[in-house]
Amino acid sequence: MSIRLGDTAPDFEQDSSEGRIRFHEWLGDSWGILFSHPADFTPVCTTELGLTAKLKDEFAKRNVKAIALSVDDVESHKEWIKDINETQGCSVNFPILADGDRKVSELYDMIHPNADNSMTVRSLFVIDPNKKVRLMITYPASTGRNFNEVLRVVDSLQLTDEHKVATPGNWEAGSDVVIVPSLQDEEEIKQRFPQGYKAVRPYLRMTPDPKANWSGE
Ligand code: BEZ
Repeated sequence: MSIRLGDTAPDFEQDSSEGRIRFHEWLGDSWGILFSHPADFTPVCTTELGLTAKLKDEFAKRNVKAIALSVDDVESHKEWIKDINETQGCSVNFPILADGDRKVSELYDMIHPNADNSMTVRSLFVIDPNKKVRLMITYPASTGRNFNEVLRVVDSLQLTDEHKVATPGNWEAGSDVVIVPSLQDEEEIKQRFPQGYKAVRPYLRMTPDPKANWSGE
């Protein structure tokens, strides 16, 4: 069965570059980003893992733990991590799952046989502290992902969990948001959005980002 948004992220136990991982236990109360890459010692993957390592503080600010995966083994991961650190000027600070038996890849449908029969594609799942899947993206092997976009989506998800808002296209933290159409009670709107709102249309109500201080967290 394929995974859909809102589903509970399947739990698993698997080896990694940092030892055996029991996924749900490892996540604890954090958000999680589980992402697969096609293989160790490949160029695009090397840059992606370097970027993830360098975004450590950004992930920590948002209470997000990252965990990567490929079907190569632990020894290979450990050798590759040395290369990533050296070539990308970083220190890989998150585990890479060694999914040689394809247990996790199959559970999360990360192998797309018509793209490649044996390697995982670039799947990425954002999982919330209730272990629900909140974002899924799939990229081909030849296209590296934009990790600033992943952070942007986490910002949006966390904002919309805290306030009755949604974020418009190309939204960035700090810019205007929309009040969800289900919120119609003017008293509640006043309380939630003391800066008021602009009704472009009755269904399109713009209000300043209710999170006052993104940088000072
Ligand atoms: C890469 O990570 O560079 C890569 C992996 C598989 C196919 C193409 C590129």
